[in-house]
Amino acid sequence: MKFELTEEQLMIQKAARDFAQNELLPGVIERDEHQKFPAEQIKKLGELGFLGMMVDPKYGGSGLDTVSYVLAMEEISKVDASASVVMSVNNSLVCWGLEQFGNEEQKLKYLVPLAKGEIIGAFCLSEPEAGSDATSQRTTAIDKGDHYLLNGTKNWITNGSTASVYLVMAQTDVAKGHKGINCLIVEKGMPGFEVGLKENKLGIRGSDTHSLMFTDVKVPKANRIGEDGFGFKFAMKTLTGGRIGIASQALGIASGAFELALKYSKERKAFGQEICKHQAIQFKLADMATEIEAARLLCLKAAWMKDEHLDYGQASSMAKLFASKVAMDTTIEAVQIHGGYGFVKEFHVERLMRDAKITQIYEGTSEVQKIVISRGLLQ
Ligand code: CAA
Repeated sequence: MKFELTEEQLMIQKAARDFAQNELLPGVIERDEHQKFPAEQIKKLGELGFLGMMVDPKYGGSGLDTVSYVLAMEEISKVDASASVVMSVNNSLVCWGLEQFGNEEQKLKYLVPLAKGEIIGAFCLSEPEAGSDATSQRTTAIDKGDHYLLNGTKNWITNGSTASVYLVMAQTDVAKGHKGINCLIVEKGMPGFEVGLKENKLGIRGSDTHSLMFTDVKVPKANRIGEDGFGFKFAMKTLTGGRIGIASQALGIASGAFELALKYSKERKAFGQEICKHQAIQFKLADMATEIEAARLLCLKAAWMKDEHLDYGQASSMAKLFASKVAMDTTIEAVQIHGGYGFVKEFHVERLMRDAKITQIYEGTSEVQKIVISRGLLQ
């Protein structure tokens, strides 16, 4: 067992760290406050190859491994989790899904510009009445011969208004249950497709979360991913990898907050000395560092298993379950260490604390991760 990163992985980690410090840190507070999408920064992330990290270069990607993706996600998320969720959805849910299960025509038309970051994508599974219970899709895709007629509403869609390509899960044959669900590639601008209001969120406020409405949208049959009825499995398989991305986002939020708390504790004085010299603070720092390291190992292990083509479903859920709890616990402690300063925006930790919460909710709640893990145990 080797715990060392390769030269290439270290280089990717450094490039992501530099990008986060130089391009994302300036303005991150304002973007959060005004719910401003980091458009320029996402464009640059695309140019640097961070939006199609694991995609084969023949489809415009960077051809890197999942371990590199985890390292980059951690660094970007330390500074701006709004940017990193865009990166995560585009890489893991959209590009990966298309590369694994799309046909050659779909890859050339959609994957290439997505992997190059020329456009971004969205993954549309959640509905007003189908969140954790993802088989209960109410959106319908009725088979009309050469096309599907798509009707319904999707909720809480990341990249809702900024995406150009949407992977939409919809029920074609209710009688077949989850085996009647399809995944359709929908383009922005198809008649009958409307983007609803932007959500005013607790955290990741710079990201762009919308509901989507489909009214008699004609989607060509050529835009269905996989065989008829493959849509639910497509969503589950894709989310399994996506959870490694969100686990790494949670890890980054935690390690970002920890680094700020450590630095602050060495500068701030109370009772005649730097607060890091008080055991009450040292114990907190020791717990935070240990938990972050454990979360990092779970993320890297899940990524390594994916790269080795092992069954990584349980590992990705464990990484997400644990890292998202560590993100929540660590950011709360980071605010506590900062005292009153932690409660104001300039010190970043209050934002990280708000951003942490979503990592326990999207791409499967913590309860969903426990279902996946326990099913694996009881097989
Ligand atoms: N890989 C492949 N197939 C899978 C699978 C996986 N990981 N998980 C389930 N399946 C298959 C099963 O084998 C089964 O197939 P068969 O009938 O052929 O055997 C089928 O899918 C149905 O599976 P289940 O019976 O296990 O389904 P379930 O209704 O009990 O649901 C669940 C299980 C784990 C709770 C699942 O519904 C789930 O993951 N829910 C959460 C959905 C989710 O993560 N939503 C997030 C939305 S996207 C998002 O948040 C993106 C964003 O904006 C950031």
